[in-house]
Amino acid sequence: MEQLIIHGGAGSLEGKIEHAQAMHDSLCKIWEESFDILQKGTAEETVCHAIRMLEDDPIFNAGTGSKLQADGQVRMSSALMDGTNNRFSGVINVQNIRNPIEAAALLSKEENTVLSGAQATEFCRKNGMDDYNPVTQERLEDYKKRCSGKHGTVGTVALDNEGHIFAGTSTGGIGYEIPGRVSDCPTVAGTYASTKAGVSCTGIGEQITQQAAAAKIVTRVEDGMPLHEAVTLTMSESNKFSYLYGLISLDSEGHVEVGKTEALDEVFYAFHDNNRIRTFFA
Ligand code: GLY
Repeated sequence: MEQLIIHGGAGSLEGKIEHAQAMHDSLCKIWEESFDILQKGTAEETVCHAIRMLEDDPIFNAGTGSKLQADGQVRMSSALMDGTNNRFSGVINVQNIRNPIEAAALLSKEENTVLSGAQATEFCRKNGMDDYNPVTQERLEDYKKRCSGKHGTVGTVALDNEGHIFAGTSTGGIGYEIPGRVSDCPTVAGTYASTKAGVSCTGIGEQITQQAAAAKIVTRVEDGMPLHEAVTLTMSESNKFSYLYGLISLDSEGHVEVGKTEALDEVFYAFHDNNRIRTFFA
């Protein structure tokens, strides 16, 4: 049985309530189109497709519409995890490309699977990815006001009918951070999968990394804990530190689970439930 869950970021409204409907509509459209791909194709194709669409929608903080770091530059990160082959790949602080998830997918075929900074950008150029400016007027205005939103990120986890699980995450960071900051997204704390489960996180990257959240949940499921319990336990451990983040996950039986810490207002996500797409403001 195929299963697909996508997210458009924890706390991504940041008070802009007028964006709620647009986010809902966008998540529904992306979920539907991506689920069509999952029914005919693989979890890998589906995750890459969904994240490309999320990156291309400027309402989300990834790809086009990424936040600017404190020096006025956009640096994006993205990761892809193949749960069957235990293969993690990603780019850290890549610049001037349209779809960081495509770079992560290309790197999954290389011996060295994670690249950062200028060398990551150079790798993209060598592989035919065109120069592209992801800055939008709205993000530029936020930058001028020195907005550090602390939130954003997009992610997808898919299970295909061959039983393969892929997880992917992409982010423009938190905004106005120290140039070169590394978020959780291109680490196994933010994006992880195995044959049993997959997780994509969103929220404050440092806190997600400190909790090793995605890898911890997947390991707990590997060790026999049901997904629901693994997510609940990990969230309660994070609540002890008042951490602020959320996540989407699924297991090999097609159960989906969304987690968020008590400090987080909302996670925007979508999944299939009794033939309906549900988007939530968790
Ligand atoms: N989770 C995204 C970030 O911290 O940049």
